[in-house]
Amino acid sequence: VPSGDFAVQILRALDVSSPLLSAEAFPDRKYVEIKAALDRLASREMIKYDTIDREEAVLEPEGEVIAENGSHEARVFEALRAAVEGLSVQELEKVIGDKNITKVGQGKAFKEKWIAKTSDGKLKAMKDSIEDITKEQLQTIRDTRMLSDSKALADLKKRKLIRFEKIISFKIHKGSKFALEIPEEAVDLTAEMLTSGAWQSIAWKPYNFRALGAEQNSGALHPLNKVRAEFRNIFFDMGFTEMPTDKYVESGFWNFDTLFVPQQHPARDLQDTFYIAEPKLADKPRPESPDDKKDYEKYWEEVKAVHQDGAHGSIGYRAPFSDEESLRLVLRTHTTAISSNMLYKLAATKGPDGRPPPARYFSIDRVFRNESVDATHLAEFHQVEGVIADYGLTLGGLMEFMSTFFGKMGITDLKFKPAYNPYTEPSLEIFAYHQGLGKIVEIGNSGMFRPEMLEPMGLPKDMRVYGWGLSLERPTMIKYGISNIRELLGHKVDLNFIKTNPAVRLDKN
Ligand code: PHE
Repeated sequence: VPSGDFAVQILRALDVSSPLLSAEAFPDRKYVEIKAALDRLASREMIKYDTIDREEAVLEPEGEVIAENGSHEARVFEALRAAVEGLSVQELEKVIGDKNITKVGQGKAFKEKWIAKTSDGKLKAMKDSIEDITKEQLQTIRDTRMLSDSKALADLKKRKLIRFEKIISFKIHKGSKFALEIPEEAVDLTAEMLTSGAWQSIAWKPYNFRALGAEQNSGALHPLNKVRAEFRNIFFDMGFTEMPTDKYVESGFWNFDTLFVPQQHPARDLQDTFYIAEPKLADKPRPESPDDKKDYEKYWEEVKAVHQDGAHGSIGYRAPFSDEESLRLVLRTHTTAISSNMLYKLAATKGPDGRPPPARYFSIDRVFRNESVDATHLAEFHQVEGVIADYGLTLGGLMEFMSTFFGKMGITDLKFKPAYNPYTEPSLEIFAYHQGLGKIVEIGNSGMFRPEMLEPMGLPKDMRVYGWGLSLERPTMIKYGISNIRELLGHKVDLNFIKTNPAVRLDKN
């Protein structure tokens, strides 16, 4: 067959013998190559073809060795047969030259009663000759890619001496428009063809309705949005309500003071917090709607008192409380500002027993910190925040809840470390082993809100509140294997990555 267009080669071969088996006619051609040429011819009805699936047995590397040198047991037998006085195990190992082959071969040869141990502890051959069936079977497979004894075949597979390969080949027949050349086919209709009438006799290339369409330029969800959606589902599954986080600017009062963060706390420094230049100060907290009947003035005084002079069993910070500091406008440094506001509202809510009902809140939104920017930190990030208020909550319950919560994202075996937050006591940092990074990483911060925060709000003394927070960026970067946050956010983001990254699935338990 002359070289050149492979499809033409197929036509010539088919002219000589039809039907044609591709495995015989073109043993060296790759599957995709044959398939492409056949489809090209079949679309012109020059040929027809059927696909044949068949399994062939192929030797694994160890099978090759045995087909060449004999089975382990046969090699052990031959070595012992050659040594008239028998061999110690160490001597046998030396002759065979491989500890493992000696061990496996010895075991099998004993079982076959080809060898035995003499009274002086040496190994001896018990026969003049043996039949190395395994070697013969493997040789047959090597030469014919098959073995008629299906039980033996399965056994060799189990011993990992052979594997099966699926072979796809084709049976090719002449089609209704069979010819030795592929006719030229027109693709475009021209004005000339119309005026001359040539269009009537031209061979047209048929439409290929199975071709994939051109890729469409479309919008795409950002990875952070995808992970956020997963988190929201976990929260909703666990009975949480979403908190309204639609404001980035807060007063120091809600962002810090209601949370019992001392006014001298380093987090409030210019280093950590972005302060608003214009306007500088907020109004004092006041009702948010006509039916908001809460006494904000009283709450303000309560918060001030617990800071400055102490209250509710606490000695406070014993430092003057500055109203101006409390009114300074900030870009919220955490969504815990919202949690605080929600808990204050909860305190004014009456359940069936006249007391605030248990509640579960969450939010996922943006927060801002005046930090130095590096591979894993930006001046703004997203915080995932959760709050559970209920009667009789304990620290053990918080740890148990965290295990369940993170377990829903496939993160298990949490580790807890005592930590410090001004608004929680005790506080726990949460760690987990990260498979990809191969080390234990911090995944969140949590705690039980302090009485100094909850009691000024008017929440009952026996209502306890869990709170926790984590960044959305960290799990997203881990999930998508991103090591630099600038690949995820900002002007260096590769739009192609955003478009083609897969839908996220947290591996749920
Ligand atoms: N606000 C904390 C942070 O920014 C998270 C947190 C929330 C911790 C609630 C405890 C309780 O890291």
